[in-house]
Amino acid sequence: MVMRLGEEEKDMLSGKQGRLIQGAMQHLVKLGEAYDSRRMIDLEYAVVYSTVDMWGKKKRKINFLTPECFEEAIKLGVRVKIPTISGLGAVDIDNWECLKIPKEIVNGYQKQCDYDRKLGIITLPSCDPYLVTDMYRFPLGTHMTSIESSAIPYFNSVLGARANRDGIAAYFGALTGKYPEFGYHLDKNRKGQHIIEVKAKLRDYTDYGVLGLVIGKIVGADVPLIIIIEKPTTYELVHLAMGVSTGGAVALYHILGVTPEAKSLDEALDYRTLKQKVVITRKELDTVYKEYSGTDEKVNFVALGCPYYSIYDVQKLAGLLENKRIRSHVSLWIHMDIQTKALARTQGYLDIIEAAGATVVSGTCPVLSAGEPGPTYTFQHPEFSVGNFATDSIKQAFYSKLLLRPQKILIGDMQRCIDAAIKGKWR
Ligand code: F3S
Repeated sequence: MVMRLGEEEKDMLSGKQGRLIQGAMQHLVKLGEAYDSRRMIDLEYAVVYSTVDMWGKKKRKINFLTPECFEEAIKLGVRVKIPTISGLGAVDIDNWECLKIPKEIVNGYQKQCDYDRKLGIITLPSCDPYLVTDMYRFPLGTHMTSIESSAIPYFNSVLGARANRDGIAAYFGALTGKYPEFGYHLDKNRKGQHIIEVKAKLRDYTDYGVLGLVIGKIVGADVPLIIIIEKPTTYELVHLAMGVSTGGAVALYHILGVTPEAKSLDEALDYRTLKQKVVITRKELDTVYKEYSGTDEKVNFVALGCPYYSIYDVQKLAGLLENKRIRSHVSLWIHMDIQTKALARTQGYLDIIEAAGATVVSGTCPVLSAGEPGPTYTFQHPEFSVGNFATDSIKQAFYSKLLLRPQKILIGDMQRCIDAAIKGKWR
């Protein structure tokens, strides 16, 4: 379908605003045509990756994502049209040496961040950016674009924003402030298609992540309406969003009586498109835990804070690590964004965490890092294994299994993971 474009969109398409804007608009028009979209809508927020230059390279070549086009845009005074923050990448800019990230990759990342800042993008790499920006105050129905699979279901479901699962289109949406109207931007695609009744009592955020994984595997890319007994906390909802986008490709879920578009069954469902009702019990969750279990295993690597910890999680963690020391053969990585890290420093939590021998990581994580451990390093070194890997996050467990060649993956709550790091053993 040919899209109807307004004057502003035609202007961007004409090239008057430079090749970067022209290329971005061309890409969005093609995306809209592929999804039978009739028109562009105005966006209000964007979350993008600072590794946009990778799309201009090798196989993923998009010919206008070159240094020349970025420099031309900056000279022309191009700015992102909407509030935009950049998400995660392969680099922790404060800690790259410790994480053994090659200098040339750090330089490339810094160059892209430099372009981003000149284009008006705020560099705040985080996989749960809504916890540290004003995004948690979205008016219901805010149209936005986002990269980061675990953040998108949170935006859609908990905050009632409207976003698709975007990749590079998020960057183009930020540059133009426009996006083709399709998918979760339309009312008709936001209704629950599966009723998921959860009969298990959920103990903590790790349980919510595992539940999400189970639901994602059942519904794939559809919209589940979840019925649970407990009222989840914010970080439990973060883990649920992470789980559904790991087990499946869920971009939107509803929880009856909890999320804003599910005050009642009638509001959340379109009965004509309802596919099935499924009951989940503790048995389904335990099946997942069994895959990631062990006793008396030696632990080599512990990764906590996936998605990134909030200051309250860091506070709890500091309490568990106070006056303790992790075993010398264990690496303990704690993930948080730079804003939370700064706050943790002023509260004295960072001193406690570092005194215990842990490494605070911002801007990346083991499954993204360009250092060691990280997928690139692992694939380039066939003899390398991260060893026995423990985490409190089902996403970290799931992807580490694929990308870090662990001997064993173990999953448990924060307390259990910290005990393992201190004793060097999983119990
Ligand atoms: Fe974030 Fe890495 Fe987890 S990107 S959601 S910490 S796998």
